Amino acid sequence: MTPFSYGPMTESLRLVQSREDLNTNWSELRARGAIGLVPTMGALHEGHLQLVDASRRACETTVVTIFVNPTQFGPGEDLQRYPRDLDGDLAKLRARGVDMVFAPSLVDVYRPGHETFVEVGPVAAPMEGACRPGHFRGVATIVLKLFQLAPADKAFFGRKDYQQTLVIKQMVHDFDLRIGIEVCPIVREDDGLAMSSRNAYLDRDERQRALSLWRGLQLAEQMCAAGHRDAAELKAAVRRELEESGRAEVEYVEIVRDGTVSPVTLVDEPAVVCIAVRIGATRLIDNHKIGS
Ligand code: PAJ
Repeated sequence: MTPFSYGPMTESLRLVQSREDLNTNWSELRARGAIGLVPTMGALHEGHLQLVDASRRACETTVVTIFVNPTQFGPGEDLQRYPRDLDGDLAKLRARGVDMVFAPSLVDVYRPGHETFVEVGPVAAPMEGACRPGHFRGVATIVLKLFQLAPADKAFFGRKDYQQTLVIKQMVHDFDLRIGIEVCPIVREDDGLAMSSRNAYLDRDERQRALSLWRGLQLAEQMCAAGHRDAAELKAAVRRELEESGRAEVEYVEIVRDGTVSPVTLVDEPAVVCIAVRIGATRLIDNHKIGS
């Protein structure tokens, strides 16, 4: 038991920080019915908490994992400065009725001598995969490990990370994993900025400029609804919005068929506009469905 565990498991949040502790607790959880898993890297916001709500609606027990996974960060990325606030996260999760938090240490997850990784396929190649080499290999590996360590019935992911949901679904299919993948809608601030732990990096000016992401995505939706179906024209308009009003450095603007990472040339069926930009030193991604 730790200082964050209060009372019996049926009444409060239990914090588990080692795989041994998790194993000891798991059969008690199992006996209660379906288990929902919400994998996160912490610094929790309303986007994460709505995954928790979805899990609580669907499952008897909800387990949240908090682990800043080093294998999904590239050299020179923000692993060291990634925001960490376990106490704050626990308070939010307790208020939301979560049953258990699994927040393991690095060496407990990747034990000395760890050498096996998930090789991800073409779904992981473009967009985030191209800009962040090795990122999805790290994501798939940690998600597979979490599914093994905390074998749940359903796992909940956000559409904010559209390509990540496709990579995980592909892995679950290819490896015959017995877990259901649920994808929940993007949660935005009142002004449209998609919630992200990385928004904490933005200063006031950058926070304003970051609104260009949502403006760009809405522009694509409006143009599409007005009959502009040529993907190149839509992408150029989004890029202009990002570069001119957001003074953002654009990594990519892509329009893919919904549920895939295949680029479209004409939006004649539901499609997803995916964007990645840098505002100052902060890398932000967002996406929005159009043409449906
Ligand atoms: P993290 O960025 O902490 O996100 C955890 C989950 O919250 C992901 O499924 C993500 O898509 C979802 N999420 C984040 N912001 C959201 C928003 N504004 N609206 C809806 N959902 C949102 O994604 C990861 O961590 C990691 O890659 C992980 C899957 C935990 C593996 O390490």
